[in-house]
Amino acid sequence: MTLLQELESRLAAAVRAVTGEDAAAPVTAAADLRFGDYQSNAAMVLAKQRKTNPRALAQEIIDALDLTGLATAEIAGPGFINFRILPETYATRAAALLHDEKLGTPATGAGRTVVVDFSAPNVAKPMHVGHIRSTIIGDSLCRIARFLGYRVIADNHIGDWGTQFGMILHGWKTQLDPAALETDPIAELVRVYREVNAATKADPGILETCKAELVKLQAGDAENLAIWRQCIDVSKRGLKQIYHRLGVTFDHWLGESFYNDRLPGLVDEFLEKGIARESNGAVCIFSDGTKKPEDDPFMVHREEGWTDNPAIIRKADGGFLYATTDLATLEYRIDEWQADAVWYVVGVPQTLHFRQIFEAAERWGKSGDFRHIAFGSILGEDRKLMKTRSGENVGLIEVLGEAVGRSARIIAEKNPALTPEEAADIAETIGIGAVKFAELSQNRLTDYVFAWDRMLALQGDTAPYLQNSYVRIRAIFRKLEDSFHATEATLSLGTESEIHLARLIVRFAEIVPATLEDFRPNLLANYLLELARAFHSFYEACPVLKSEEPLRSSRLALCELTARTLSQGLDLLGIRCPERM
Ligand code: ARG
Repeated sequence: MTLLQELESRLAAAVRAVTGEDAAAPVTAAADLRFGDYQSNAAMVLAKQRKTNPRALAQEIIDALDLTGLATAEIAGPGFINFRILPETYATRAAALLHDEKLGTPATGAGRTVVVDFSAPNVAKPMHVGHIRSTIIGDSLCRIARFLGYRVIADNHIGDWGTQFGMILHGWKTQLDPAALETDPIAELVRVYREVNAATKADPGILETCKAELVKLQAGDAENLAIWRQCIDVSKRGLKQIYHRLGVTFDHWLGESFYNDRLPGLVDEFLEKGIARESNGAVCIFSDGTKKPEDDPFMVHREEGWTDNPAIIRKADGGFLYATTDLATLEYRIDEWQADAVWYVVGVPQTLHFRQIFEAAERWGKSGDFRHIAFGSILGEDRKLMKTRSGENVGLIEVLGEAVGRSARIIAEKNPALTPEEAADIAETIGIGAVKFAELSQNRLTDYVFAWDRMLALQGDTAPYLQNSYVRIRAIFRKLEDSFHATEATLSLGTESEIHLARLIVRFAEIVPATLEDFRPNLLANYLLELARAFHSFYEACPVLKSEEPLRSSRLALCELTARTLSQGLDLLGIRCPERM
């Protein structure tokens, strides 16, 4: 049990003793440590219900509270109960973590299966900054969920069956450079796509040719199918290199095309069950009138008032759409993988799409915890959408290359003694870590400004700062001449900075599950910064190697726990820790 859970259970017992009821007694971490470590407003809520004096009720609850060996409690303000954890409680709790791989984190996801749908770039289109956000956030959510005991299925639902293939097929046949395809397949496909796209603007005849290629592909033409397969193969190969570099892995790559065969049957089923109906030759899902229009994704407010906003699942020409595929995908995930939850890490612009999918799924009788985990845009330092000099969206590769290049320069200055291989390896770890941390330390919904110097700073709210903290701790252990067995150490927390460090180490187990409450890895990111700062204050205030036993072992154990927590926490964000830098 985490401290928070322990407090909640003891508080609930006291509430029961006083009121004779099983009332909820939630406890939260206190915002300001001067008033304690944790806080509860349970007495105020209960007093309101029973129309009694909240402070008097809080006092009765405190009198009934058994906090032996755990904490002290006092009343504050209008009836809050503030808890202060005993230093020896932190000492025993932290010492117990020396033997616990999971650092005390409870298995809140045990027995549950979640599919995480993230990254999902479109074949032959460049992976843009939006895909970076999805990839980094999605990977971190997978890691966190796995750590919490969920069965996690990471699925890369790539866009491998879109109208872009008309242009790609035509470009492939008329202007492919096989050598370029060999060296950089993604770039070559993008080039071909862009060139044909530009040509269609100048010459409508080309657009017709492209459309005809697409129709042939959809009708199963052997030549076009073969080219399409090759496009996907080379794209996947290119993508896998990027994912490898990022340390991102998937369990499945079931792209849109995987569901093609299921679409006709799905539309028939929707028609039969009355979930969809025909409208001007197309098949659409309309509002069923059970929701208020403001909550109904199939209604939209226009000048003339609330009007229909249907989701089309089959066009009048017989073609299927993004929504049709997503419905088929959802069914597959539930039936084949027994998913209890599906998390879609996709940008804000697709909000309406997912509201419609979830609502349609409900009417279809598919139940589960479906979430659209949305995120905002990345802005350049001019606060406009980030573009390259030629005005195109910045690709992921460029961003990574730039980050690694810049960190290589910083490392060369800081530590010229490293071998070139070591330096390159560290630059990679730091550059990529910096990009990821800049992403994950923000609230995902706010647009964030991509500022190179800020994200790479060694003294700042950055990954390099955390990695450097880890490296400094590892350096302490390298200096050790005798052997130190952390698992045998007993902790004694004599100073405020030691208590605070232990408090934060113990809190890791509460932060990790909390990040999934609203899918906010930034809670974990910011916690790690706080932990590193607490470590530095401790290290300034308390000699470690030069102190006497048993204090020395106690402090070394705190160092060890800090290092483990930092590296475990960074790992949950998908960020590696170098051993030196
Ligand atoms: N390929 C889509 C895009 O780039 C994202 C797909 C997200 N996943 C989904 N199941 N719709 O916009």
